[in-house]
Amino acid sequence: MQHGPVLAVHNLKRSFLQGGERIEVLRGISLAIAPGEIVALLGPSGSGKSTLLQAVGLLEGGFEGSIRILDEEAATLDAAERTRLRRDSLGFIYQFHHLLPDFSAVENVILPLLIAGAAQADAENRAAQLLGTLGLGARLHHRPSQLSGGEQQRVAVARALANRPALILADEPTGNLDEATADLVFEEFLRLVREEGGAALVATHNERLASRMDRVLRLHEGQLHDVTAQIASGQLPVLDPRIGTLDAMVREFHQLQTAADRLPPDDFDRRTADLWRAVDGYVSRSDAQ
Ligand SMILES: Nc1ncnc2c1ncn2[C@@H]1O[C@H](COP(=O)(O)OP(=O)(O)O)[C@@H](O)[C@H]1O
Ligand SMILES: [Mg+2]
Repeated sequence: MQHGPVLAVHNLKRSFLQGGERIEVLRGISLAIAPGEIVALLGPSGSGKSTLLQAVGLLEGGFEGSIRILDEEAATLDAAERTRLRRDSLGFIYQFHHLLPDFSAVENVILPLLIAGAAQADAENRAAQLLGTLGLGARLHHRPSQLSGGEQQRVAVARALANRPALILADEPTGNLDEATADLVFEEFLRLVREEGGAALVATHNERLASRMDRVLRLHEGQLHDVTAQIASGQLPVLDPRIGTLDAMVREFHQLQTAADRLPPDDFDRRTADLWRAVDGYVSRSDAQ
């Protein structure tokens, strides 16, 4: 049983070069997550949520500062140790399901269990049980293309939880679904994470979904702010969306256009959708003023 935090981040910094200009996305972030705690990472598109999750998920280097997962310092791990830590202790859910298209729902969930060394029969039982809990008992042998968007994300949730990770990292896990479906899938996701006892860091730009979690941290101008109390009382201060936003959006559109041929289609679609959503938010807020 883990007693200390499952995740401890200290003074994390990350910047990117964009067209010769250095953009400081994370400017010295610190946070700790206790076992079983579910934390929302709130912030508009472009605020750096995915950058933070990717660093914490040991998916990308290039940052300064300390990331400790279950008391292991990421920077001191070699590639094999990082892989082991990710496989045994982390679960990932993305906005798009990233399920393997040629495998059935149950096979997609079995795979990480087998990779972690589970026996075939145990893996099948665990996968079927998880999918059953998520209401997919009658869809076990469907392929992703035969499932609805909400069902696909439920499979992705089951896959992320299969190995009982101590920490689940979810990047807008229902951001690709219509509002009603998103609410349903999100509630099931929270219920299951609580039942299984995992901790989670969940990126969202949705304040209503954020309010369902134990703690809410807002990422703004590269810093994290605890806004749990404001969210609970409906008093979250509205940030001026115009500060730096239009420049950043225009830059990102240009960057996306020039990268269109190099990016995997899923990535391109996701980033384009993110950007349009941000533009919609920007325009509607500007109109209201
Ligand atoms: N690989 C990268 N190269 C250059 N800039 C990047 C890269 N990844 C992210 N960024 C920039 O960092 C900022 C934050 O991006 P991101 O973490 O994806 O935000 P969010 O997930 O909150 O929408 C954006 O301005 C984005 O353009
Ligand atoms: Mg993102």
